[in-house]
Amino acid sequence: MYHWKVVILQLNQNDHPVKKILIINGPNLNLLGKREPTIYGSQTFEDYFQTLQQLFPEVELHYFQSNHEGALIDKIHEIGFTFDGIVLNAGAYTHTSVAIADALSAITTPAVEVHISNVHAREAFRHHSYLSSRVKGVIVGLGLKGYELAVRYFI
Ligand code: DQA
Repeated sequence: MYHWKVVILQLNQNDHPVKKILIINGPNLNLLGKREPTIYGSQTFEDYFQTLQQLFPEVELHYFQSNHEGALIDKIHEIGFTFDGIVLNAGAYTHTSVAIADALSAITTPAVEVHISNVHAREAFRHHSYLSSRVKGVIVGLGLKGYELAVRYFI
């Protein structure tokens, strides 16, 4: 009995396999542009995501946002064994969620944690992250640019 497995490998213009990267934004980040613009800026993420896609045409960039902890965990499970990288801004769940930390430990896809604001220059409860020990690195306080830098790490 023979078992055949067909693997279709997508190549980019430089003949490298196309990298699949997912940006995940957690609670309240759907309000970027309107939410506390002095802290988070006045650009919507949908708008910025287009800029990212133009910056990285060779990358298969995906975006997911949810205000629900379980939905974020389901998405991490769904892509966490096949994608090349996760750029994760878990919002306030960063400071509370053992469950998201466990999800990051459970998968094989590496993640980079991003925060738009400098959480260390803000309230004390924002100084601790349950996620930082489960990711490759952390980018804080550089605004939306942090997402670009995180994508660059993976390519
Ligand atoms: C944030 C910082 C968190 O403390 C906060 O709860 C957010 C956004 C940031 O990107 O700066 O929702 O993750």
